[in-house]
Amino acid sequence: MALEIRDLHVAVEGKEILKGVNLVVERGATNALMGPNGSGKSTLSYTLMGHPKYEITRGKILLDGASLIEMTPDQRARHGLFLAMQYPVAVSGVTLYSFLHAATSAVRGYGERTPTATRGRLNSHLMPMREFRQELNEKMAFMEMDPAFLQRYLNEGFSGGEKKRAEILQMALLKPKIAILDETDSGLDIDALRLVSEGINTLQKDLNMGLLVITHYQRILNYIHPDVVHVFVDGRIVKTGDAKLVDVLEEQGYEWVRQGMG
Ligand SMILES: Nc1ncnc2c1ncn2[C@@H]1O[C@H](COP(=O)(O)OP(=O)(O)OP(=O)(O)O)[C@@H](O)[C@H]1O
Ligand SMILES: [Mg+2]
Repeated sequence: MALEIRDLHVAVEGKEILKGVNLVVERGATNALMGPNGSGKSTLSYTLMGHPKYEITRGKILLDGASLIEMTPDQRARHGLFLAMQYPVAVSGVTLYSFLHAATSAVRGYGERTPTATRGRLNSHLMPMREFRQELNEKMAFMEMDPAFLQRYLNEGFSGGEKKRAEILQMALLKPKIAILDETDSGLDIDALRLVSEGINTLQKDLNMGLLVITHYQRILNYIHPDVVHVFVDGRIVKTGDAKLVDVLEEQGYEWVRQGMG
């Protein structure tokens, strides 16, 4: 059970950004992805989720052997893929509660019921409110989030750290098999980083999740221990190693990897 990326090439507005990415994320394994600004890390995460702006010009993306490329973003989510975005978008008019209710219901297949089964029952494409509410309350308590957030519009006016916490809350409800966390550590204070990391670790254990943790900093990797570390430069992975690679990068930056690229 894994996410497999083979020779992936992606262009954005005619410009090639990903230039042959090869990566396997196994369930239960933690992969860290580090690399300079603008190297294409977020492009990779958006491509995996099926953002229409990112055009795949070559390569394959497989989840459990099934091709993701033909799937819509919500089908990908139903197949167990989750992306915590680097810059979560604000959606005015949609409360955090209704967003989470809709997203959780969709991923758990409530929207797929036959019209006959749902006829005459308002909101029957949604998970039963009481059941959802109970689970939501547990997860929010776990994430130490104030329930008052539920009535706020999605990410609107959320602080940087609050947005990241809301993303992990969403992940806890969607229970993905593979999660891509794009700079989930950015903007978190020290206590929040610990809390969010513990949340991720607990979920990983419970769900046997495969993780791709995109980060610039060692600090989150002190909590979420990577099994494999990949260095991403200029649209592809140029080096793969174990956790010790993080120390080397911290000390020497990316120049030494670039020099070895030829
Ligand atoms: N929609 C777009 N239009 C034009 N260029 C884009 C678009 N999306 C990405 N790019 C370009 O693709 C390159 C890679 O961007 P990306 O956001 O993937 O980098 P990154 O590795 O995530 O960087 P960072 O560490 O700063 O988050 C950048 O040069 C960026 O400007
Ligand atoms: Mg990025």
